Amino acid sequence: MAKARALTGIQPSGVPHLGNLKGMIEPALSLQDTHEAFYFIASYHAMTTLKDPEALRRNQREAAMVWLAFGLDPSRTSLFLQQAVPQVCELSWILACQVNTGTLERAHAFKAARDKRREINLGTFSYPVLMAADILLYDSTHVPVGQDQKQHVEMARDMAQAFNHRFGGGEAVLTLPQPLIREEVAVVPGLDGQKMSKSYDNTISVLLQGKKLRKRAMQIVTDSLPLEAPKDPDTCNVFALYKLFAEPDAVAALDAQYRGGNFGYGHAKQALYEVLVEALAEPQRRYAELAADPGYVDGVLAAGAERARGIATQTIERVRRAVGLN
Ligand code: ADP
Ligand code: TRP
Repeated sequence: MAKARALTGIQPSGVPHLGNLKGMIEPALSLQDTHEAFYFIASYHAMTTLKDPEALRRNQREAAMVWLAFGLDPSRTSLFLQQAVPQVCELSWILACQVNTGTLERAHAFKAARDKRREINLGTFSYPVLMAADILLYDSTHVPVGQDQKQHVEMARDMAQAFNHRFGGGEAVLTLPQPLIREEVAVVPGLDGQKMSKSYDNTISVLLQGKKLRKRAMQIVTDSLPLEAPKDPDTCNVFALYKLFAEPDAVAALDAQYRGGNFGYGHAKQALYEVLVEALAEPQRRYAELAADPGYVDGVLAAGAERARGIATQTIERVRRAVGLN
């Protein structure tokens, strides 16, 4: 039987952070053994908010290098830029002609933009349609994401189902995807306790080192219990992050220190800083090597795009035939 196919994307709207790493990048990388994997940089999606060409170019590059530095194996997994496969825009249009505006008004990305009174351009509004096109173009079966993207993946599934019903003549033209979400990392908290997100300025970048990294760790918001007081690790943002990076023994030890009293948040933040240095050092070293070898990264992206286009061409042919565009 053919391997299941995993696909996911990350917006190049800033440097990937610990929430991206734990919520999506690491779970996605762990699928490389069991799935045929297609991972991409969602540049068109980032354009809904990012209007600076230099920043877009830089962020795309950084995101690609982060994937590689943290363990993407380009001999097995295709890594590419969204725009390298322009068929995604065609599929997006075809799907847009099938979807109700009422459905899109309920979408997470749209509601977030409206709540924050951000500009709502047509791209923001149709964000889930383009995302559905990303997923369906590659016959993806599994989509590793954090909790915030669950609804968008479900919308992609609904669009595929509706499309097959309308145009399939009993056949599955489009493959139905499902989200893969890891419970323990579904929502990684940021410095302020909200979901860590590039749009909230509450992130810790996976590339931070030394003093800058320590400073960020020290900025994490905690309650104001005095040093002597016993503390509850389960409601603490510092502990929540520590738990994601430390070994179980160390987590148990820190848990006991919280509960024992005479242990301040400054100590906990220092412990977090140290465990982050250890976890990030090796990938950061690889990142520096990649940054010094742009030709290699270009080659990886070109090969990934080539493989992605091979599949996209077949899907779009099938779709065109189904809707009468052939
Ligand atoms: P951001 O919200 O920072 O802009 P993206 O939207 O580019 O990040 O998200 C890329 C992937 O990382 C998505 O699958 C998303 O669900 C996941 N992700 C982002 N932030 C978190 C978080 N704080 N916890 C868990 N997963 C996250
Ligand atoms: N919308 C996703 C995010 O903000 C990024 C994304 C775009 C994506 N296309 C995708 C994720 C397809 C999974 C599958 O995180």
